[in-house]
Amino acid sequence: MGVNATNPANHNMVGNDEKYRPEFHFTPDSMWMNDPNGMVYYKGEYHLFYQYYPKSNVWGPMHWGHAVSKDLIQWEHLPIALYPDSLGYIFSGSAVIDWENTSGFGTKKNPPMVAIFTYHNAEKERLGTNDFQTQGIAYSLDNGRTWKKYAANPVIPNTSFRDFRDPKVIWHPASKKWIMVLAVKDRAMFYASSDLKSWKFESEYGLKDEKRLWECPDLFPIKVSGTSETKWVLVVSMQSGAPNGGTGTSYFVGDFDGHQFTNSQPDNKQFWLDAGTDNYAMVSWSDIPAQDGRKLMLGWMSNWQYAQQVPTQRWRSAMTLPREVTLVKTAPAEWKLKSMVVKEFSAYRKNKISISKDKMTGNKCLLFNQSPAICEAIITFDRSKCKEPFQILITSTSSDTLIIGYDSSGNNYFIDRRKAGISAFNPLFAAKHSTPCLSKGNLLNLHLMVDKTSVELFTDEGLTVMTDIFFPKSEMNKIEILSNNLSELLKENMVHTLNPKK
Ligand code: FRU
Repeated sequence: MGVNATNPANHNMVGNDEKYRPEFHFTPDSMWMNDPNGMVYYKGEYHLFYQYYPKSNVWGPMHWGHAVSKDLIQWEHLPIALYPDSLGYIFSGSAVIDWENTSGFGTKKNPPMVAIFTYHNAEKERLGTNDFQTQGIAYSLDNGRTWKKYAANPVIPNTSFRDFRDPKVIWHPASKKWIMVLAVKDRAMFYASSDLKSWKFESEYGLKDEKRLWECPDLFPIKVSGTSETKWVLVVSMQSGAPNGGTGTSYFVGDFDGHQFTNSQPDNKQFWLDAGTDNYAMVSWSDIPAQDGRKLMLGWMSNWQYAQQVPTQRWRSAMTLPREVTLVKTAPAEWKLKSMVVKEFSAYRKNKISISKDKMTGNKCLLFNQSPAICEAIITFDRSKCKEPFQILITSTSSDTLIIGYDSSGNNYFIDRRKAGISAFNPLFAAKHSTPCLSKGNLLNLHLMVDKTSVELFTDEGLTVMTDIFFPKSEMNKIEILSNNLSELLKENMVHTLNPKK
């Protein structure tokens, strides 16, 4: 079974749209998708709900689409979980397993899966009021297959905030309470509850002179790698001002005492989970079993700048690959998240291709020659020997070229999609994106996940990630390295072809 093989679209090609559909990234069967929602693990299944509009390939009245996976890679589509109702569209939110049945919706033996989401009342918005977003809950007693909305919704009414949304709920063992973090205009607000039904405002966190709109927050504790210290990460998606333009996912590192978040870094430092353009609304999975212990995250692989115009018709947009994040201390008062694609991928590696140095000719080395380009490439090179940019070219027979590289003159990584295919749908799409290199030593390691129409670059041991999408005119079928003095500077290169059939 292929990753998207349960999509009827794969068997029933409509136009030439399917050439863009990735193999390993989650895509909706058809129509419009944005943010991941309600990600929760229960009884051997990873649940992925998502913002979904089943009637069009552009944004509209939001539902929660639903899929499940046993390994985070092969997804099975399930019927729509939540439909709009008289209180509004179903905007983004989260889901938890209420193990102790604090809500009373289930029993301790059969704990309810509770979804916490934003109601967006479009009619009220049209009438010009400011209170059209409220928070609602729903529950399922059959592993997320069927849902019942709480009769006394909304659980948090709105007093006056036009932007009041995207609740992420976690259990806070120290205070024995549920904590909700909400994005409210230009800041995060924290609420507490003992039963998921009645909520009390606790505090807020924001930045001075903030002009950007905050969305899709997340809050979680995480051990600092190699220590016994625990820090709290507050994730916030920003509607503008991401490192390479448009929308992106950022985070703050600090402490949370059950009431208030405080940033532990000078000047309320903010970092980005991804320096590419295509990772928005990234949030973490709830209820990963303690014996697994990982912090797993996934984002929407697009950017509001052009998401509704990308050249697919039958379906629109994919999710990023699921990633594991860890926290490291990088300076006396600085902590950063590292990201890496989940280890489950190794089960899908098929052939390992390594190119021996004596086979390299001049400044080019062919890594991969197969259509479509779907692979995992791991490349280590010595940047002290780079006299010109080190480049990895992904090309098609229609001469589309995507370049991923390192430029020693500016000490930065880049992804250049200016000539990678169709881009006329939006003037902001064709661009070269770059981000500073954070590694200190001479050896740089690039870990690339290539899936037909996207590339995810993990480097600086996971401290730097870049996710970019592209739309080649014909399938990409070649990956080459281009650099001066290749046989001397290339230390290691390995490509795993990936096959959706294990
Ligand atoms: C983020 C977002 C959320 C909202 C949802 C609506 O992409 O704007 O803030 O809940 O999309 O679809």
